[in-house]
Amino acid sequence: MMPIAVAGATGHIGSLTVTALEEAGHSVVRISRAHAVDLVTGDRLDDALAGVEAVVDTTNANATDTHEAVAYLGTLTRNLLAAEQRAAVRHHVLLSIVGIDRVDGNAHYAGKREQERLVAEGSVPWTIVPATQFHDFAAMVAGWSEHDGVANIAPLLVQPIAPTDVARILAELVTGETRGRYVDVAGPEPQDLVDMARRTYHARRQDLKLVPSWNGTFGLEMAGNVLLPSEGARIAPTTFDEWLAAGAR
Ligand SMILES: NC(=O)c1ccc[n+]([C@@H]2O[C@H](COP(=O)([O-])OP(=O)(O)OC[C@H]3O[C@@H](n4cnc5c(N)ncnc54)[C@H](OP(=O)(O)O)[C@@H]3O)[C@@H](O)[C@H]2O)c1
Repeated sequence: MMPIAVAGATGHIGSLTVTALEEAGHSVVRISRAHAVDLVTGDRLDDALAGVEAVVDTTNANATDTHEAVAYLGTLTRNLLAAEQRAAVRHHVLLSIVGIDRVDGNAHYAGKREQERLVAEGSVPWTIVPATQFHDFAAMVAGWSEHDGVANIAPLLVQPIAPTDVARILAELVTGETRGRYVDVAGPEPQDLVDMARRTYHARRQDLKLVPSWNGTFGLEMAGNVLLPSEGARIAPTTFDEWLAAGAR
């Protein structure tokens, strides 16, 4: 049983990771601004990490501009790693995204690359876990452009993974040995993002007209196989259909 901190503990994956760790009997320190710990300012961070052996970073940034995303995730990661070093943390696990090195123009991906660089060049022993898009990703993306019952969405080819599967894998890895760059982590089946969004809205009994388009947040550089997992990926069990049938949340 280990004392483990989850950074981003109020978030989608962070809260599921807290649950997975607590179910396995570990004591979990929750890090987020809602828990009065701010990773950008560093407020209360040293107190939060006292006695912690491992940290899993599931934080996120809302920035849509590349400079802002790199600055936000970069500052947050620098502060977290420096505090971990002071607290003699033995293992830092970063949740990242499959394919970010294959796409130049996405602001969030630039921020994630900066996080990966800082973790890999830092002195806290680490594991980076690249995951594919989550099962709820399509509906989230459609929500970004929704206006008067209509949303644009790019027909991305993805191999989505269930949020609970991601959380279980993070909980397993953070309690084990450091792995460096871990294999890609993905769900069992490729999907088309427009079809996923349509089926998610249907399962949630919500009406939305979806317009397939490359003119929104995701451009043509994200077409083709760029977001698919590499050979040797770890394939998680929960299918998109099973996730829909379980309530699509
Ligand atoms: N969505 C996908 O399909 C997908 C696929 C692969 C990987 N990922 C990656 O998965 C990660 C987690 O995504 P998610 O959807 O679970 O995120 P989320 O729900 O937006 O949660 C983000 C968490 O970060 C915390 N946070 C943000 N800024 C903070 C700060 N300054 N100090 C302390 N805590 C802060 C938030 O808490 P407070 O607001 O309370 O501070 C929240 O707990 C992201 O890095 C994303 O890139 C996503």
